Amino acid sequence: MQFEKIVILTGAGLSAESGLGTFRGTDGLWDQYDIEEVATPECFARSPVKVHDFYNMRRGWLKQAKPNAAHFALAKLEHDHTGAVLTVTQNIDGLHEAAGCSHLIHMHGELASALCARCGTSLPWHEDLSLTTACPVCHKAGFLRPDVVWFGEMPHEMERIMEALSRCDLFVAVGTSGMVYPAAGFVAEAKHAGAHTVELNLDPSDGASLFDEAHYGPATEVVPAYVDKLLG
Ligand code: APR
Repeated sequence: MQFEKIVILTGAGLSAESGLGTFRGTDGLWDQYDIEEVATPECFARSPVKVHDFYNMRRGWLKQAKPNAAHFALAKLEHDHTGAVLTVTQNIDGLHEAAGCSHLIHMHGELASALCARCGTSLPWHEDLSLTTACPVCHKAGFLRPDVVWFGEMPHEMERIMEALSRCDLFVAVGTSGMVYPAAGFVAEAKHAGAHTVELNLDPSDGASLFDEAHYGPATEVVPAYVDKLLG
């Protein structure tokens, strides 16, 4: 393989064939729900029950969801590549880990985690959250929130991500529309570092012109094919 340091960015399109909806486009989640009513700190302060219901519903979907061939192919790349592979996901599902991926950053947080706004503890969480759920650490009810990054909040581990982008020689974006920053800006960062940039998506994303190479089709087809080609 000609590449040493690889950064993969993944989005909702990767998990679409695992039965988890994407956000934009026909039947996307943001067609059915208003971002301002379920995905900002302000709406959680205003209507916490509505926000809990939205994330409880999505946490429930995870019980049925299994990783697909694209998740497994990316885990194989991480294991079989002799250089470094860092996967940065915008997805809050746990399907990368379920497929065996371990060098992973959940930049938008995780559905299977709760965060106590009172004591700051972040802990694994698989059940519904409500206003009466008590934090197992500080024992106070009413402070637990989904451990996800809402619009207006800072994504996780940005320093580590920017460092990896500045050193990578291959950047691959999978199943993301390129409409949400800072992730949408990663391709430009990687290009600036001199990396080869590749888009694997169903359709050309917003930033399609910034990629040196692109393969369009369902993730379960294009991702395994691309990984096989990379690993030779
Ligand atoms: N295979 C590959 N790509 C697919 C598939 C599929 N089966 N189905 C859909 N796609 C592509 C779409 O063409 C689109 O470009 O996946 C992309 C999904 O885009 P979005 O729904 O915008 O998801 P994403 O880019 O992950 O959104 C970024 O926005 O609201 C937020 O926080 C949320 O992390 C999310 C962020």
